[in-house]
Amino acid sequence: MNKKRILSGIQPTGIAHIGNYVGAIKNWVYLTERYDCLFFIADLHAMTIEYEPAEYLQGIINTARTLIACGLTPERCTLFAQSHVPGHTDLAWIFNCLTPLGDLERMTQFKDKSDQHRENINAGLLTYPILQAADILLYKAEVVPVGEDQVQHIELTRRTARRFNNRYGETFPEPKWELSVTPRILGLDGQAKMSKSLNNYIGILDPPEIIWEKLRTAATDTQRVRKKDPGDPDLCNLFTIHKAFSAPDLLLDIARQCKSAEIGCIECKKMLYENMMQELAPIQARAADLEKKPDEVMAVLKTGAGRCEKIAVAVMEEVRKKAGLR
Ligand code: TYM
Repeated sequence: MNKKRILSGIQPTGIAHIGNYVGAIKNWVYLTERYDCLFFIADLHAMTIEYEPAEYLQGIINTARTLIACGLTPERCTLFAQSHVPGHTDLAWIFNCLTPLGDLERMTQFKDKSDQHRENINAGLLTYPILQAADILLYKAEVVPVGEDQVQHIELTRRTARRFNNRYGETFPEPKWELSVTPRILGLDGQAKMSKSLNNYIGILDPPEIIWEKLRTAATDTQRVRKKDPGDPDLCNLFTIHKAFSAPDLLLDIARQCKSAEIGCIECKKMLYENMMQELAPIQARAADLEKKPDEVMAVLKTGAGRCEKIAVAVMEEVRKKAGLR
């Protein structure tokens, strides 16, 4: 029996962080056992923000090597760069002509990004979710594993599939999102979502001493909400991160000991650091090895794009016929 197809992507801006890892990448690795998996670097999406062209390709290669090092090896999945398969932008245009402007203006990410980048509110920032819908539907993917912040975009993708099917005949499945156990990680400030742009993150490839320093000084519920609800671990961002790295038995112990004040935040952070490094150290070693082999990383992306291109060409042919272009 054919495996269901899943797809997801990550932008190549800067360095992948722990939010990306526990919100998405770790789940992606796990899902490779059950699905036909396509994962890609969203290099066209990231162009909506000001960037340095001379350094861009290096960022794409760095993101790819991080994903491979995390376990998304070519044996387990198809890894590629969005711009290597022209069907993404082809299909996005057709979806542009089906999408009401109001749907795009309502998107939270559009509002946030236009606030953050007032000097560069380009049309790409607005039509960003249409390209995302094209990424997914170009391969007729049925499941999209993402963090919570992307759910609104998957909802728009479902509406886009429905609109196309209603207008031109049944063509696309309505994909479902799938969240990890930790779909929303806050930044080290304990306030906003962990993100590259807010510089409140722990990088997957940060050196151990930096990771400890960032954890040691990270906000806990003590700073955030202790006055309201003293010592409730479920309100603490670090406890959420613990859920992704620590065994269930330890989590129960920590929750109990945190509530009764048997352990303080620093002990909790030390345990988290140790468990986190146990998982990240082998990833960092593999990433360091791949850093010496950029050609190998590029070859993985090219092979992946080759496979995707075949799927994309067939779907675009069907789309053009149905839309009356052929
Ligand atoms: P991006 O690059 O912002 O993030 C990649 C993945 O990491 C998740 N994530 C988080 N999860 C939990 N806590 C956080 N603080 C956190 N920050 C990021 C994101 O939810 C995402 O799953 N638009 C997408 C890329 C994209 C895409 C697609 C995804 C383009 N086309 C098609 C799925 C399908 C983005 O900017 O992800």
